[in-house]
Amino acid sequence: MSNMRNLTINAERLWDELMETGAIGGTPKGGICRLTLTDLDREVRDWFKQRAEALGCTVTVDDMGVMFARRPGQRDDLPPIAMGSHLDTQPTGGKFDGVLGVLAALEALRTLVEAGYETYAPIEVVNWTNEEGSRFAPALIASGVFAGVFERDWAWTQKDRAGMAFGAALDTIGYLGAERCGAHPLSAFFELHIEQGPLLEAESREVGIVTGVQGVRWFEVTVRGQEAHTGATPMNLRKNALLGAARLIERIDAIALAHAPLAVGTVGLVEVRPNSRNVVPGEVFFTIDFRHPDTDVLDAMEQAFGKALPEICDQLGLTASADKIWENPPVQFDPDCVAAVRKAATASGFSHRDIVSGAAHDAAYVSRVAPSAMVFVPCLGGISHNEAEFSSKEQCAAGAQVLLQAVLDYDRLLAERG
Ligand code: GLV
Ligand code: MN
Ligand code: MN
Repeated sequence: MSNMRNLTINAERLWDELMETGAIGGTPKGGICRLTLTDLDREVRDWFKQRAEALGCTVTVDDMGVMFARRPGQRDDLPPIAMGSHLDTQPTGGKFDGVLGVLAALEALRTLVEAGYETYAPIEVVNWTNEEGSRFAPALIASGVFAGVFERDWAWTQKDRAGMAFGAALDTIGYLGAERCGAHPLSAFFELHIEQGPLLEAESREVGIVTGVQGVRWFEVTVRGQEAHTGATPMNLRKNALLGAARLIERIDAIALAHAPLAVGTVGLVEVRPNSRNVVPGEVFFTIDFRHPDTDVLDAMEQAFGKALPEICDQLGLTASADKIWENPPVQFDPDCVAAVRKAATASGFSHRDIVSGAAHDAAYVSRVAPSAMVFVPCLGGISHNEAEFSSKEQCAAGAQVLLQAVLDYDRLLAERG
């Protein structure tokens, strides 16, 4: 059995697989459009299953489509130490968001297999379904069910914008598994991800030790006015829902700025009805994404929006409704897991800093049911959710190496504890 310090992941192999899977849904601008539970998602899942099975893993799928590739340990009765992330992307996603965490986990596992290194606990690589929340809201829906935050049956009925239900889509791509989501205990969970922000690059740190994840609140807003002829309806007689939405969007930006620099607020999806150039818009649907590391500030932001909504609608003769469809409180990761990541970064000789994640991640939900932590690596210019997203081969490899060492460190901790 080789010493854990000698185990080194293969940077080329990891990079080659990132480029190979990047072609599944690859876009002309070098990114990926691989929305969850589409044919392209099925294709990358099939690829992942094949690669994992080629390494001798057993692959199981739960009834939220979450995939687990398992390599046995000495104590096969113990819950596995899991590592992974997600293979779905945004419509204009890059090649790294999520994908790196799954492929690095696969590479780490392959390194163990090649070295004949026997872990104490079983090791699993996980692919979480619908991390992005782009096609089906909310994000992290499968890890949310896994952690008992959402009901499976509720998750199955969530619809995409075209009206297709999550459960039906899951069935259509053949990934509606037999295991009940959540009936799969984990000893721990480690997730490698690109930072998706500018901090590591700005400070020239190779690795981020992620201590927690900031809170998120998502709202869906519908503003209602009256459809009317654009030529014949005087300005003072209009009930223009889009004008109301525009003023609200401006206000949402101001609310986030009022809590600078940590608060962020975004309207990313807008639907105008009937969306005809010579009809005064009668109805507008839009989404809000508010984030901050403190619950109190999120409360203040939510209240400020709640006040602005009737105020702006009254001025314009509009009505509106707003639903909070998702609330994910700020998360602090497990001290032992965070320590394992820090130790792994130090032992591997990488410069590092502690960091709170701006983006949401499956590890945030998983941390409710298993000790969890994350590893970040920098990405170029902090750009993500963008086809231009880029982390170098060396940066990806550094993250994979720290992931492997953190898992092995935690495995040793379990062995010591018996
Ligand atoms: C996931 O990408 C999120 O943070 O919304
Ligand atoms: Mn992600
Ligand atoms: Mn993402």
